[in-house]
Amino acid sequence: MTFTTASKLTLPNGAAIPHIHLGVYMMTSREAERSVTAALANGYRGIDSAQWYANEAACGAAIGRSGIPRSEIFYTTKLQTNTSYDATRAAIKTSLKKSGMDYIDLYLLHSPYGGPQKRAECWRAVEDAVLEGEVKSAGVSNFGVKHIKELLDRGVRVKPVVNQIEVHPFNQNREIVEYCKEQGIVIEAYAPLVRGMRMRHPVLREVAKKYGVTPAQVLVRWGLQMGFVVLPKSTKEQRIKENADVAGFEIGEEDMKKLAELDEGLVTDWDPTDAA
Ligand SMILES: NC(=O)c1ccc[n+]([C@@H]2O[C@H](COP(=O)([O-])OP(=O)(O)OC[C@H]3O[C@@H](n4cnc5c(N)ncnc54)[C@H](OP(=O)(O)O)[C@@H]3O)[C@@H](O)[C@H]2O)c1
Repeated sequence: MTFTTASKLTLPNGAAIPHIHLGVYMMTSREAERSVTAALANGYRGIDSAQWYANEAACGAAIGRSGIPRSEIFYTTKLQTNTSYDATRAAIKTSLKKSGMDYIDLYLLHSPYGGPQKRAECWRAVEDAVLEGEVKSAGVSNFGVKHIKELLDRGVRVKPVVNQIEVHPFNQNREIVEYCKEQGIVIEAYAPLVRGMRMRHPVLREVAKKYGVTPAQVLVRWGLQMGFVVLPKSTKEQRIKENADVAGFEIGEEDMKKLAELDEGLVTDWDPTDAA
């Protein structure tokens, strides 16, 4: 299978989502504007932002200025806190206003925090935003199996199309990945580069050397071969290019097995998947 900035995966609702997005977590507005501009110039068409990242306006400005038709861009943002129906509807409108967009391609509950009642209420608000066209596709992030089951058991009008969780060889989150696969929910792999924390790992280096690529490229390619949408972040144009330049090699079965053995449950940032 070919994975490029132009290649896409079909979500369960029929929408096409780029395999590779630029993640913009921990970017100042200035960095986000430059990085999104660089990413779009290098072929990226997916941008993963969030209310929490406080750079939605910068992302929207860079997208607007790129001259690329809005329909060719896939823009994701997320609800910071699960509070109430009204607050969620208002947050979606604010995200739209900040980014200067008429619609959001993918809107996620950023975490399961808040408990069952708030999760259900906020999801209902996201569903209404989908039904009214503010949001094209809806999903969740950092949801554990129990959170997804709870949502589905309550009955949904709009089924989540993705669960965005931390996944890389050093934290494979297999139970959630397996369950989502059964449910037809696509996994978006965040922190796919392990936030730079394992670039010097000997197995990763060995595999990279074998294919004549960088450890970062092995990590991105691993996620894609696992069937995930992958969201590498970089503020540097050279790395933005490098991270998406993964079409020229395929990790063989033996090496996929070696990488599968690296799981150490490493949490690079936070792990709300077990929240009450
Ligand atoms: N839903 C959630 O709760 C959640 C949580 C975390 C992340 N995310 C999403 O996933 C995206 C990616 O995760 P992340 O930003 O935490 O981490 P990441 O993409 O795994 O790693 C980013 C780090 O790797 C460095 N890097 C990038 N390319 C590199 C390369 N080719 N070689 C060496 N180092 C490289 C970056 O530094 P430079 O910038 O200096 O290049 C940065 O320090 C986020 O931006 C966000 O969109 C979502």
